[in-house]
Amino acid sequence: MVKRGAGVGKQTLTRGLESATLPCMNDLAGKHIVLGLTGGIACYKAAELCRALVKAGAQVQVVMTEAAAQFITPVTMQALSGRPVYTSQWDGREANNMAHINLSREADAILIAPASADFMAKLLHGRADELLSLMCLARPLASVPLLLAPAMNREMWSHPATQRNVAQLQTDGAHVLDVGQGEQACGETGDGRMLEASEILEDLLAFFTPKVLSGQQVMITAGPTYEAIDPVRGITNLSSGKMGFALARAAQQAGARVTLVAGPVNLPTPRGVLRMDVRSAIQMHAAVQAHVGQAQVFIAAAAVADWRPLTQADQKIKKDGSGDTPALSFVENPDILWTVAQSERAQKGHLFCVGFAAESHDLLAHATAKRVRKGVPLLVGNIGPSTFGQDDNTLLLVDAQGAWELPRDSKTKLAQTLIAEIAKRQQAPGRVS
Ligand code: C5P
Repeated sequence: MVKRGAGVGKQTLTRGLESATLPCMNDLAGKHIVLGLTGGIACYKAAELCRALVKAGAQVQVVMTEAAAQFITPVTMQALSGRPVYTSQWDGREANNMAHINLSREADAILIAPASADFMAKLLHGRADELLSLMCLARPLASVPLLLAPAMNREMWSHPATQRNVAQLQTDGAHVLDVGQGEQACGETGDGRMLEASEILEDLLAFFTPKVLSGQQVMITAGPTYEAIDPVRGITNLSSGKMGFALARAAQQAGARVTLVAGPVNLPTPRGVLRMDVRSAIQMHAAVQAHVGQAQVFIAAAAVADWRPLTQADQKIKKDGSGDTPALSFVENPDILWTVAQSERAQKGHLFCVGFAAESHDLLAHATAKRVRKGVPLLVGNIGPSTFGQDDNTLLLVDAQGAWELPRDSKTKLAQTLIAEIAKRQQAPGRVS
């Protein structure tokens, strides 16, 4: 989708459909996932999904229908999950011969991927003539969630019977994931493909994330800005955007609608996040101004250039052989965070603003002073050289009460903690900014 935003020039807005920004090592640690496969060509993606779940720290127990075993062998799934696969309710390995009870009681979630049209129709009627449907029916409704990743031909997906079944399954408590769009194994093009493994993993992680920002709109700036000198040169900095992107992902998983205003970075858009790409501080400022009016939280994680060249040459500035260097003059960029923090909504407590400080020394003193100077309730300090480009970091949180450290961890984990801290403060009764 391409939109023109006020004063920003031509902006590209993209909805993130991709996988994690950062590796989600151990995000599913301690979780026991029963991965059910039903008959469909998308079974090939279940192999990758199984691997991704294991890599994310989950214990995975695979259960397959007879039809699924026509598409991929239990041997493959056993090798990938590291556990014997169950395919029959008559499996003699269970001492009490009740695999459907034992497997469903151990699970933190049952994830059926792929979920065929036939299997969903079966679930809907509470039928239980083989292990997987039997297990779904026997699962404790209150404590073992059921997630379905549908996979089928586009006509089957759009058929009223399937759509009716999806709606009823949701009413019955199942969590039905989206389907993908595009070319299908049958050669047709449309809705109904199973999501990619990385997308299902993201949706599962989001499912387990407490919805501390449910119903909130969050705007985040991320990455560096680029201030052009001429058409081929410019001034920028080493910000990778990883922290801002991790925050966008964490906020989205916490239930927020997230708009991410990104400087020039080479990172995939977190799933479900609305991204606006900008280049200069002026563009970033305009994009923020145009959309921050709907937000309840604003997080300025971008490393915005303090100055830009006063003029921008239309043509490449050439070396003339004289040894003279071009005289560059600079002008200060608008302080986006400060401007937003001064707005009436922020001042009245309707918009919670969070700033970042990348320092090289005396972090506590600089971060404390910067929080007051920026006029924000929460400022997050970090040491620039040890965060730029890294996958992990150490943060110092500074608010009116004091300061404390979030010890070194992955940016993924730090972002989750920070989002929880922001939600706590933003929703605190009687809060003043
Ligand atoms: O003043 P300094 O650049 O150190 O402030 C850092 C904080 O202010 C960050 O949150 C950054 O995103 C924000 N900022 C901004 N606009 C600027 C400069 C910084 O939003 N022009």
